[in-house]
Amino acid sequence: MIDETSAIATIGGVPARELAAEYGTPLVVIDIDEFELEIDRFVRAFVARGIAVGYAGKAFLVTALAELLAATPLRLDVCSLGELITGERGGFPSGRIYFHGVAKTDAELAAIAGGRVAFGVLDNAEEIERLAELARPDAPANVMLRINAGIEAHTHEYIRTGGENTKFGVPARAADATIRRIAALPQLRLIGLHSHVGSQIVDVEPLVANLEALIPFADAARALGHPVEELNVGGGIGIENGPGEPRPIDLDAFAGRLAARAANTPYRLAIEPGRALIARAGSLLYRVVTVKRQGARRFVVVDGGMTDNPRPLLYGAHHPADLIASAATGAPAPATLAGRSCENDEIGEYLLPEDVRAGDLIAMRYTGAYTYSMASNYNRFGKPAVVFVRDGSRRLVARAETADDVARLDLA
Ligand code: LLP
Repeated sequence: MIDETSAIATIGGVPARELAAEYGTPLVVIDIDEFELEIDRFVRAFVARGIAVGYAGKAFLVTALAELLAATPLRLDVCSLGELITGERGGFPSGRIYFHGVAKTDAELAAIAGGRVAFGVLDNAEEIERLAELARPDAPANVMLRINAGIEAHTHEYIRTGGENTKFGVPARAADATIRRIAALPQLRLIGLHSHVGSQIVDVEPLVANLEALIPFADAARALGHPVEELNVGGGIGIENGPGEPRPIDLDAFAGRLAARAANTPYRLAIEPGRALIARAGSLLYRVVTVKRQGARRFVVVDGGMTDNPRPLLYGAHHPADLIASAATGAPAPATLAGRSCENDEIGEYLLPEDVRAGDLIAMRYTGAYTYSMASNYNRFGKPAVVFVRDGSRRLVARAETADDVARLDLA
């Protein structure tokens, strides 16, 4: 897909040129007003209807973000000790943190058993036994069970997590037996059921069907005496490709459908979006390093790429690119944006002015989710810095990794 480029000179009221000069590129820029606007939308649509909202930390988490989230009514979904510690350092209350993960380590299960989080979402039969060994009957661990309710959504196969052919959760056909097994373990209190269909889902039906599918399991669990009170239908709310496009999921309508279905049942509801809360608020700032014409193509090579945003290569994702801080005046023409790693890490096909050149700045938009959190040190590149912007002010919240940082764990 080819995008028209449009000039945005500032992000959160701060000139992008200043951000790049001050903190270097590549740079992760989070517009805090945008983020808070999305939080507000979720609070008004869901929390106001009694539906709890957990932020999926896997989408993007740094200590300063946890700090900011702590002041909202949101919960925090973590899936590793790294995410948990980040939440804790940000002062996020443990009573609103819960632990996910498809293959938890003993240390992660100990964090659940030890009450460092409100509850754990158990994924499989072995985890149930392992957690039961760590927890005490006089201080039972609160758990939810993740059920793979078999709902399939039309999303990229790499980010589809429901459906029989995926590794996640207890398969529906084994759920009843698993729920019975938990009933025999006084060390565990089954307080809810969970099911997450997948990510970037742009149709509300599978999300609603997911709740429908959980209810009979919850009823069966209650009949066995489990104190199941909450049904969590996961995250996955899809977003549009870029600014100005219509939003695929109407939050109010979705929340209304969920609430209507849960009315006259004993269940509270919860969701756990990541992308829909943070993606729009994030931009990745790159500087053009060189422009090359090779064969029939024009490559605009930037100083970032797959190591700070693997999404184009992994999922074929396309993020809008805005050329900013450039003196280019030429007509838009096809260009391949490419990263700087020793791979064919093409970011995508774009329309960029004929005279775009080294030194120009490019902002990749809608990149707040699953970019920094999926960044790697391939080529031993350091991860970028993260800066929060709002109303013309800026705050560095994670510094860039230096080459020394990258080598710091080596024993030699
Ligand atoms: N809950 C669970 C159990 C999850 O596994 C996920 C995402 C979420 C919630 C949040 O989903 P969201 O609302 O952000 O769609 N790296 C991929 C996305 C992977 C999603 C993994 N799980 C990407 O860049 O598109």
